[in-house]
Amino acid sequence: MTEKSTLTRDRQAAIEQELTDRVLASFDDTDDPRLKQIMRSLTTHLHDFIRDVRLTEEEWEKAIEFLTAVGHITDDKRQEFILLSDTLGASMQTIAVNNQAYEDATEATVFGPFFLEDAPRIEAGGDIAFGAVGQPAWIEGTVTDTEGTPVPNARIEVWECDDDGLYDVQYDDGRMSGRAHLFTDENGEYSFWGLTPVPYPIPHDGPVGKMLDAVGRSPVRAAHLHFMVHAEGLRTLVTHIFVEGDPQLEIGDSVFGVKNSLVKAFEQQPAGTPTPDGRDLTGIEWARCRFDIVLAPEGA
Ligand code: BEZ
Ligand code: FE
Repeated sequence: MTEKSTLTRDRQAAIEQELTDRVLASFDDTDDPRLKQIMRSLTTHLHDFIRDVRLTEEEWEKAIEFLTAVGHITDDKRQEFILLSDTLGASMQTIAVNNQAYEDATEATVFGPFFLEDAPRIEAGGDIAFGAVGQPAWIEGTVTDTEGTPVPNARIEVWECDDDGLYDVQYDDGRMSGRAHLFTDENGEYSFWGLTPVPYPIPHDGPVGKMLDAVGRSPVRAAHLHFMVHAEGLRTLVTHIFVEGDPQLEIGDSVFGVKNSLVKAFEQQPAGTPTPDGRDLTGIEWARCRFDIVLAPEGA
């Protein structure tokens, strides 16, 4: 490189750095120290990114068009920004940062957009299907703290899609199914009938779907059943269980939600196998799965 071109390159770098520094300095009077830290760090990373990839003006315009489309398709039923965060791994990274690994506490994973507050209550051994179609699966386990002490009266929310890969909120008729809440008994035990989970695509008819397409990625999530567990004095757990042997585990989960500790056996029970609660499933193959849940202390 000639001396002249080195000088030009250094001058260009100085121009770019001077702009970053000026934007950083614009936050000097921010009263809230956390807001100041976030705005400074965001500016630094954003400017570094633009400089690193030498972003063209056409690309910047495309990015603005993309974010505008993400906004336009978002309403009270469709949250494209969350899908974007999920598919970029930002949701899982935020979960990792905020749910520090603690002894043998069960790992957390992505919440997703399909939780509803007012799912019906079921008793121990109840059925969450409420008409959702799929293979019956008996799910059972305990909730304990990290000392192994059973947690009675923990509130467990569970939700999942049907055999067609649809959650109830995606039906047209407003019916609620494939979800419920229940409580652990005095020994910290719980059980319910759910459905053996199946893989399904996240909504991919919008800009996030186009983005996945453009980079050759599948929108499909590995088969899973969602859990959210609340108990007094313990850290709330938002997680899923995944199905051992699901080929999508190898292909990859579109939102990076899989953790090995959450992959569970759904043991197939041939038709005619007696059910744990005497439910009559004559002629139907069913599955059973054990998921013991360990909650970290609050604030861990
Ligand atoms: C879900 O598991 O329900 C989900 C998670 C992230 C994006 C879309 C769906
Ligand atoms: Fe899901």
